Amino acid sequence: MNGWEAKMSTLIAYTTRYGSTEKCAQKIAEGLNGEVEMVNLKEKKNIELSPYNTVIIGGPIYMGKIQKEVAAFCSGNIDLLKNKKLGLFICCMKEGEDAETQLKDSFPEQLFNKAVAKDYFGGEFNITKMIFLHRLIVKILARVNKDTSNILEDHIIRFREAL
Ligand SMILES: Cc1cc2nc3c(=O)[nH]c(=O)nc-3n(C[C@H](O)[C@H](O)[C@H](O)COP(=O)(O)O)c2cc1C
Repeated sequence: MNGWEAKMSTLIAYTTRYGSTEKCAQKIAEGLNGEVEMVNLKEKKNIELSPYNTVIIGGPIYMGKIQKEVAAFCSGNIDLLKNKKLGLFICCMKEGEDAETQLKDSFPEQLFNKAVAKDYFGGEFNITKMIFLHRLIVKILARVNKDTSNILEDHIIRFREAL
């Protein structure tokens, strides 16, 4: 690389409640070239986007919706994000058409249509970490009462390759 070329730099902006989305964000980061910075949107809301060529945004789905900090980050930075190379992902326990619908509904249409990589990565039920209410919801709706991992490694690999 000579001094005139901009350094390739990637931001991964994400949220997580019980750690599985952070795990997926780390898995993406491990395989990317150039500088990669991970930012938890629950800890930092105002991020200077100009240093990044590529922005990856992801979050977990709770009761059909992406976490609100992800939605706020997208809508608050839409004009800047439109001009980046974009990757969008969700973590969720549904698969197939249901997961695709959740993915599409999680991001503004303008960003969704522009993204070069968009996918769902599966997820985890970290029952032992959950607050009582979440444990109850998972037990009733998903009929799961022990820690369960369903991270879709192949989806993470194809996401990274699409970037
Ligand atoms: C209370 C609760 C509600 C959930 N709702 C959904 C949902 O509507 N759709 C879905 O696909 N997964 C749902 N999930 C699964 C989460 O998206 C999954 O556990 C995800 O990996 C959590 O990410 P995190 O560990 O980063 O917080 C739900 C999980 C919990 C605990």
